[in-house]
Amino acid sequence: MNQSLVEHLACISCSATYSIDSIRYHCDCGALLQVARTEPWTSRVSKEVWAMRQLSTNVLDQSGVWGFREAVLNLPSTDIVAHPEGRTRLYTRAKLSAFAGVERLAFKHEGENPSGSFKDRGMTVAVSQAKHLGVQAVACASTGNTSASLAAYAAHAGLKSVVFLPAGKISTGKLAQAIGYGAICLAIEGDFDTAMALVQKSAEKLGLYLVNSLNPMRLEGQKTIIFELLMQRNWQAPDWLVVPAGNLGNTSAFGKALLEVHAAGWISKLPRIVSVQAAGANPFYLSYRDQFRRAHQVKAETVATAIQIGAPVNYAKAVNVIKATQGVVTEVTDGEIMCAKAAIDRAGIGCEPASAASLAGVVKLREQGIIKSNDDVVCVLTGNMLKDPEATLKAATNEVRSIAPTLEAVAEALR
Ligand code: F0G
Repeated sequence: MNQSLVEHLACISCSATYSIDSIRYHCDCGALLQVARTEPWTSRVSKEVWAMRQLSTNVLDQSGVWGFREAVLNLPSTDIVAHPEGRTRLYTRAKLSAFAGVERLAFKHEGENPSGSFKDRGMTVAVSQAKHLGVQAVACASTGNTSASLAAYAAHAGLKSVVFLPAGKISTGKLAQAIGYGAICLAIEGDFDTAMALVQKSAEKLGLYLVNSLNPMRLEGQKTIIFELLMQRNWQAPDWLVVPAGNLGNTSAFGKALLEVHAAGWISKLPRIVSVQAAGANPFYLSYRDQFRRAHQVKAETVATAIQIGAPVNYAKAVNVIKATQGVVTEVTDGEIMCAKAAIDRAGIGCEPASAASLAGVVKLREQGIIKSNDDVVCVLTGNMLKDPEATLKAATNEVRSIAPTLEAVAEALR
């Protein structure tokens, strides 16, 4: 990889910078850190080089993250822990366009990643950096998907992983993954925000390497959702990019990616980002409604357990992104989320509840006249349908019918 382009950690609030290899998640001033470069990475690579890698048989080129490595992180290839990941599909369905009242509506399905969620895009970078730094153990707090992804990548890298889970609030599929991949699973009495605070303290005092999206490496990986999407669309940016919002990592990463390619003229317009929150877990929406005068916190409760977060850690980055992209923050009820999920499931695509918040958000903004019927809209589906089977079964209107093992019984059932 290119050695002369220097990466470092930069504060998003003051002018402080730190070595890219320093293990820290906040500036001395208390603000968040991000990966910055001495010159834009866009001067070192072209869209054509990225496109060519799609044809390569090299494992890093085949990764939907490391195929965009100039924009991600400059690491020796021997340190990179790739499954490989990414290269997810983009779906359109007439049924779903009709459901939302938007003709040009596409879904980028990040549930098609190796551990079943978008988290793998950031985790491959954070765990590769952990390997590069020679740390012994990696840790996260999680509503489920981050823990599943971390456990998978740590297993791949041969690192010990510790996951802090809000007790009783994780869907079965995700918990089974974390256990199956071999993580040390700690059920914390309290909610995600409690677990998040505890893992930060534990990282500091016990020397665990933190890989929540507070870690700037994670967001560099998640930017590739945008690069891959744009590549799939021939670098034609949509009008709207709609994403479920919890800890606000994706909102932050998407904005960073879009601003980087827009500044280089790789896209001619900036899509407006829509962050969709569950009404029962809506601190970012409350702040937006308040013209971002302050960061709100709530006690979070929603059927979409993945985004049951009351104090999002990436708040300050996400505020900048909404402002820079003329974005919108909205909220949808659990009923609206499950209705949108049923539509996505019945279209044969399927997703977990939190992911469906994106489609529910489009419906809401259509009703409000903010998104127009002829706008070009992309929703990001963040997690796989199999992550939360209980939610699917509980909401289903059709059911399993028990019948006798006879032809008559089958005929009767079909009548
Ligand atoms: N969708 C899914 C399926 C998620 O798992 C998450 C976050 C989000 C959306 C929200 O993304 O935090 O970038 O705003 N899940 C984290 C976890 C918190 O622990 O798995 P965000």
